[in-house]
Amino acid sequence: MIDAIGRPQSVLVLGGSSEIGQAIVAKLVPARCKTVILAGRDGPKLLAAAEAAAEAGADTVETVDFDATDIDRHATVVDRLFEQFGDIDVVVVAAGVLGDQSVDEHDPVSAASVITTNFTGLASAMLAVADRLRRQGHGRLVVLSSVAGERARKANFIYGSSKSGLDAFSQGLGDSLAGSGVKVMIVRPGFVVGRMTEGMEPAPFATTPEAVADAVVKGLASGAAVVYAPPVLRWVFAVMKLLPRAVWRRMPG
Ligand SMILES: NC(=O)c1ccc[n+]([C@@H]2O[C@H](COP(=O)([O-])OP(=O)(O)OC[C@H]3O[C@@H](n4cnc5c(N)ncnc54)[C@H](OP(=O)(O)O)[C@@H]3O)[C@@H](O)[C@H]2O)c1
Repeated sequence: MIDAIGRPQSVLVLGGSSEIGQAIVAKLVPARCKTVILAGRDGPKLLAAAEAAAEAGADTVETVDFDATDIDRHATVVDRLFEQFGDIDVVVVAAGVLGDQSVDEHDPVSAASVITTNFTGLASAMLAVADRLRRQGHGRLVVLSSVAGERARKANFIYGSSKSGLDAFSQGLGDSLAGSGVKVMIVRPGFVVGRMTEGMEPAPFATTPEAVADAVVKGLASGAAVVYAPPVLRWVFAVMKLLPRAVWRRMPG
């Protein structure tokens, strides 16, 4: 159970090898979170994440095969995990792909794969998770959205629209869970310097996986519904959304 000051004892990360996911785990484990379940595509990155969680002090670390695009398996995977571990306090939805808009824009299959991974697939997995959390009567669903979903830019509208979908879905799901004891927290980071953005010029207000993890831990403690990382982006994007279309269209890549 999450204690009175918002510290969970167990966490499941969908996209277990994610850098941001790992940074969140690294902050939760020393603060009493002793059970870590990393669900992701099998491979060295997932194993390394499991090793890091164990080194951080987790008592139980489990990896499980999870592919966001393998929608038919989501309910089975999620049900099995909740049956194996009993209560799970926090579920972090960290899977995602950036894609390459310059290629994806001319390759409908590739574009659809970005959208399926970031939106449709995660929506499916989140419904399976929400059913289990609702049944256990408590828990937090932490969803890694993005400020890219606040207003789609021509330079990354495929990724941006997938995040808009995920974000809207999470807001609605959070409302449908009101009164169940389960809360959804949407996390909207800006540009995070790391693996996903490797080789890219950092955008203004660029942040780090550790800073995003700090915002998540703080948000869990305060019961926030939406957090921005860094927090100033809340106000930056409040203004960005009001810019005339002709100005927005000229936003650089
Ligand atoms: N980095 C940023 O600038 C930034 C900014 C805002 C929001 N975000 C969001 O934050 C989340 C975490 O990103 P990150 O920075 O931690 O990037 P990351 O290290 O590249 O993590 C992405 C994760 O998604 C997993 N993944 C990709 N496709 C998958 C699939 N089909 N099934 C299951 N897992 C899949 C990857 O697994 P594999 O190891 O198997 O590839 C990896 O664990 C993402 O949703 C991202 O969109 C990131």
